[in-house]
Amino acid sequence: MPHVQGLRCKECGRDYPADPIYVCEYCFGPLEVAYDYDSIQKSISREKIKEGPLTLWRYDDLLPVDRENAVDIGAGMTPLVRAKNLGKELGLNNLWIKNDAANPTHSFKDRVVSVATTKALEFEFETIACASTGNLAGATAAHGNKAQMDTVVFLPHNLEKGKIIGAAIFGNVVLVRGSYDDVNRLCSELGDNRRWAFVNINMRPYYSEGSKSLGYEIAEQLGWQAPKHVVVPVASGSLFTKVWKGLNEFGKLGIIDNVDTRMHIAQPDGCSPVARAVIDGQSHPRPVIADTIAKSLAIGTPADGIYSVSITKESDGSATAVPEDEIGAGMRLLAETEGIFAETAGGVVISTLKRLAEQGVIGPDEETVALITGSGLKTLEAVEDKIDPPVIDATVESFDEVVMGTVSS
Ligand SMILES: Cc1ncc(COP(=O)(O)O)c(C=O)c1O
Ligand SMILES: [Zn+2]
Repeated sequence: MPHVQGLRCKECGRDYPADPIYVCEYCFGPLEVAYDYDSIQKSISREKIKEGPLTLWRYDDLLPVDRENAVDIGAGMTPLVRAKNLGKELGLNNLWIKNDAANPTHSFKDRVVSVATTKALEFEFETIACASTGNLAGATAAHGNKAQMDTVVFLPHNLEKGKIIGAAIFGNVVLVRGSYDDVNRLCSELGDNRRWAFVNINMRPYYSEGSKSLGYEIAEQLGWQAPKHVVVPVASGSLFTKVWKGLNEFGKLGIIDNVDTRMHIAQPDGCSPVARAVIDGQSHPRPVIADTIAKSLAIGTPADGIYSVSITKESDGSATAVPEDEIGAGMRLLAETEGIFAETAGGVVISTLKRLAEQGVIGPDEETVALITGSGLKTLEAVEDKIDPPVIDATVESFDEVVMGTVSS
C-alpha cells in the first residue's frame, strides 16, 4: 500500500494508523483511508492503467492494498453498454448502462469484498464475516473461499431464495430473525469480542474504497471523461459516495478533465430515508423501518446517508423515492429494451431514470450512466407473478394453436 497515509476521521479530521478500526475515538465519526496524492500523481497514468489487469485491480494506485496480494476472483471491468433502445423509450439519446451484475457473484459487492478480503489477510484475520442485505453475503463467502479463510455471513431470514442459496453454496450462512438493521447491530456486538474481519464493519474504511472503481471504470470506458449524470441505487450510501469520490480523484489527478457530474439517488419508497432527506431539504436522514421489495436496499439507518445528501447538493443532483409498484416495471423495461435482467435495485434505478427524464432533470442529449448493481436471477420473486409462459404439447398443431399469433411468422 505504497500511497496510504493512514485513516482519517471524516468528521473531525483526526489521523489514525491503517488498522482494522472504523470509528473515531473522539467524535464517533467514520474513518476513511487517507492517501498521499502527490505520490499517486507520480505513479499513475492512463497508459499504466490500460496495461493493468482487466479487473478493478488496474486502479491499484488508488486502492488501500497491494495488487500482488489481491484476493481476486475477477471483480470489475464490467460492460458499459450503450442503451439505445431504452434511451429511445425514455427520450435520452446518450444513455449508458453500467452492468455490474456481470461480476463473479453477480453484484457490485465483489468490488468491495475483493478489497476488504485482501486487507483482512494483510491483518492476518482467519475469519471473514459480514452483515448483508443479500448480495454482500455471496461476495464475502466467495472471496473468503478464494482466500481459504473461514466465513460466516449473516442475513435477515426473509430474503429471496437466490440470495440465500447464492451465499450458502460458498460458506456458512446464518439467517437472523430481524431486519438488516438488527443483523448489523448483532454483528457489531459479535465483533466486539471476536477477532473476525467483518467486511462492512471493522473493515469498512477499506471495503468502501472498492466502490470507487465503479467511478474510475465509467470514466475510462467513456473515453476518459466523467458523464453528466449518474443514477445510483442507495442503501447505506457507501456506493453513492464512493462513485463520486472516484470520479473526483480522477479529476484531481488529471486522469480526466473537469468533473461536472450530477449525482442522483435512487431508493424504493418502502425504504427511502436518504431520498426523503434530500426531498425534504434536511441534512440528516431520519431512520425508518424498511418495508420494500428491493430488499438489497433495505437499510433503515444508512451509515453514509448524511454524506450522500451533501453530495446531491454539491453536485446539483437529486433523489427519488420510487413507488413500490414501479420497481418490477423498471426491471421489465430494462429487460425488454436492453436484454439485461437486473435485480430489484436495478428496477429502482430504471424507474428513477424514467422519472428524471420525464421531469427534464436529465436533458435529452446529456451523457447519462445508470448503475445496474445486481442480477435479477437472485430476485425472481419480484417478477414471477407477471411471468406465465405457455405450455404446449410436443406437436406443431399445439404450437400453432397456442403460440402463433404472439410471434411473427
Ligand atoms: C444490488 C445492490 N445495489 C446497491 C446497493 C447499495 O449499496 P450501499 O450500501 O453501498 O448504498 C446494494 C447494497 O447492498 C445492493 O445489494
Ligand atoms: Zn473524529
